[in-house]
Amino acid sequence: MKSVAVITGAASGIGRGMAERFAAEGMAVVIADIEEQPLAKLEADLRTKGATVLAVRTDVSNAADVENLAVQTVDTYGAVHILCNNAGVVCSRPIWEHTPADWEWVLGVNLWGVIHGIRAFVPRMLKQETVCHIVNTASILGLVRGPGEGIYKVSKHGVVTLSETLADELAQKDSQIQVHVLCPGWVRTGILNSSRNRPDVEAHHNRQHITESQNVRAEMEAGISPAEVADHVYNAIQTGTFYIHTHPEHKAWIRARMEGILG
Ligand SMILES: NC(=O)c1ccc[n+]([C@@H]2O[C@H](COP(=O)([O-])OP(=O)(O)OC[C@H]3O[C@@H](n4cnc5c(N)ncnc54)[C@H](O)[C@@H]3O)[C@@H](O)[C@H]2O)c1
Repeated sequence: MKSVAVITGAASGIGRGMAERFAAEGMAVVIADIEEQPLAKLEADLRTKGATVLAVRTDVSNAADVENLAVQTVDTYGAVHILCNNAGVVCSRPIWEHTPADWEWVLGVNLWGVIHGIRAFVPRMLKQETVCHIVNTASILGLVRGPGEGIYKVSKHGVVTLSETLADELAQKDSQIQVHVLCPGWVRTGILNSSRNRPDVEAHHNRQHITESQNVRAEMEAGISPAEVADHVYNAIQTGTFYIHTHPEHKAWIRARMEGILG
């Protein structure tokens, strides 16, 4: 039986990279995304390459959608072995200027998306009694401090502690589910155009955004490719690595934060 991998936010960037890599490794892939057209295109591309693939349009901020993703996965393939809670968006302004709608959107996708994934999939994985992996996409910004990307950082620090707690509680139960938290630095993806998926996109576009500045775009363009991130994830699954770093040079920032905390 093939291993079955579910990836949210699979239609673009890091999610697409992971879907392509897992499919190339012979896994059946369930690709989920809110954007239907690129999702259908990825499904067709993967099928052309001979992959076993199921596309499920999913808004990860919606609990019923994520439950449906779990149901469709198990109905189609009978099991799930890897879950990548990866969908994410960013919206950047000084933290006191963010509207309640900004908070709801970013926390809804980045944090609640992972919460819904855990609630829908962990009980099914526990019941299966097979080796499983959950890869939650946080960010280097979930491990460090600094100005900018306030809501995003709140969400990603949340994903880190959520992943740590999940790993520790599953270990206490001697379960066969391994947890990993992916903390990339800059990766060349569509993340700076996140507002394409925002429900109240009109209101959002009328405001100026730090994430649309030239500087940030240049930094991202100098980042690594989604395929390189997928390599890190695949290797971490093989080696049982919990914190997945893509930019070792950023470890100095984590050390500086920890030293600041310790005083
Ligand atoms: N690109 C980077 O430099 C970087 C760095 C660190 C972490 N990340 C994280 O990587 C993850 C993937 O982002 P990316 O950089 O590949 O960006 P991306 O925009 O290329 O891909 C994100 C995908 O998530 C989908 N998505 C957005 N809202 C959704 C929703 N409500 N439900 C389901 N899918 C939804 C988008 O349609 C898109 O396909 C995110 O969690 C992001 O925070 C990215």
